[in-house]
Amino acid sequence: MLTKIDHVDTFKRYGKVKKVVGLMIESQGPESAIGDVCYIYTNGKEKDVYIQAEVIGFKDEMVILMPYTNINDIAPGSLVESLGKPLEIKVGPPLIGKVLDSMGQPMDGSSLPKALGTVLTEQQPPNPLSRPPIDERLEVGVRAIDSMLTVGKGQRIGIFAGSGVGKSTLLGMIARNTKADLNVIALVGERGREVREFIERDLGPEGRARTIVVAATSDQPALMRIKGAFTATAIAEYFRDKGLNVMLMMDSVTRVAMAQREIGLAVGEPPATKGYTPSVFAIMPKLLERTGTNHKGTITAFYTVLVDGDDMNEPIADAVRGILDGHIVLDRALANKGQFPAINVLKSVSRLMGHLASNEHKASAADIRNLLSTYLNSEDLINIGAYKKGSSPEIDRAIQYYPKILSFLKQQTDEKISLEESIQSLIQLSEKGEW
Ligand SMILES: Nc1ncnc2c1ncn2[C@@H]1O[C@H](COP(=O)(O)OP(=O)(O)OP(=O)(O)O)[C@@H](O)[C@H]1O
Ligand SMILES: [Mg+2]
Repeated sequence: MLTKIDHVDTFKRYGKVKKVVGLMIESQGPESAIGDVCYIYTNGKEKDVYIQAEVIGFKDEMVILMPYTNINDIAPGSLVESLGKPLEIKVGPPLIGKVLDSMGQPMDGSSLPKALGTVLTEQQPPNPLSRPPIDERLEVGVRAIDSMLTVGKGQRIGIFAGSGVGKSTLLGMIARNTKADLNVIALVGERGREVREFIERDLGPEGRARTIVVAATSDQPALMRIKGAFTATAIAEYFRDKGLNVMLMMDSVTRVAMAQREIGLAVGEPPATKGYTPSVFAIMPKLLERTGTNHKGTITAFYTVLVDGDDMNEPIADAVRGILDGHIVLDRALANKGQFPAINVLKSVSRLMGHLASNEHKASAADIRNLLSTYLNSEDLINIGAYKKGSSPEIDRAIQYYPKILSFLKQQTDEKISLEESIQSLIQLSEKGEW
């Protein structure tokens, strides 16, 4: 206890606002580090009226701050107090079922439940050497994924898709069907209406009851949108440290990158690839490496990545794909045909499936991939009637299997299928052409 008192920081750090340009506040002092939270007292004196801001950089001995909220009443000379630490949030099991903002406050304006712990939103990723390997499968309850792209507890996967091809619907299905202990879902950069739609339609009461949603809508300042991602990750970490298997879903990591770009450009970073600044590429691993396994529990994570015109080589897609252990590609052509979930199995990969699946399961999955690819390679010939039945036993088999495979990969949004069921169906499909 006494040693604790020794470490209590009673020294208050103050500064003064000198300049405000757009969302950037320049202040002389206080002594602080990047990421520290500051209060800016809007009446010029230390009292209860303040806005919260964060130190995002330094310039010519000035501290550059960005506010968490929209600013109105800041004036030259406003007092700035540094808390000497980054943003903290309250977290605990009573948050399950709630929708929070980026600061961890309930969006419906209610007050936080009692008996919550405090965590920093910025954390170091677990030491790579102390991370247990991923060797247990996690049921997500979507047949195409469980059978063809089996996911492990603690695996991190990107969902690459254009707009309107079914990301939200798929995330909702996973949230409702998965065997993970709880879900944490970060909605970053969506419009308010979309957040509501997701919670009511895609997640539904059943999904909501086992989920903590963190929402940072597009009208929020860039810093808040980034914080949404970090807050959700910190909440997932809290439950991982309690020994749970957590499912984290982030929609979308592209919007997090865009928010960081806004901040980067505002502090004068040079734009690099496609206008993204270097700090965007620095923040990605910092965020994405925090999930996965640690010695207590696991965070399985799905990150959606927006790909314009299905361009998978767009810089954010490229950076994210390099960090994660697999990707699921949602294909507009499939969605247009009503094939939902619109997962393009041939373009998707779970890098851990080889390690997680039985030999029989792997052989069946490889067989189905083969059949799909054989069919698609000859599709044009088949469609114009140029393929003569009997000329290739392989193509004949592919033609016979194709409609069955498509129906196997389809799933109604309210359909819940267990991992074992999916694998058994896959094996049967490969062996008998029926499932
Ligand atoms: N499994 C499914 N079964 C039937 N229809 C689906 C399914 N998944 C998606 N859809 C259809 O696709 C539409 C778009 O889906 P969704 O909103 O999930 O896409 P999104 O990628 O999240 O879109 P946005 O880019 O706008 O966020 C839905 O309104 C629905 O009609
Ligand atoms: Mg959506």
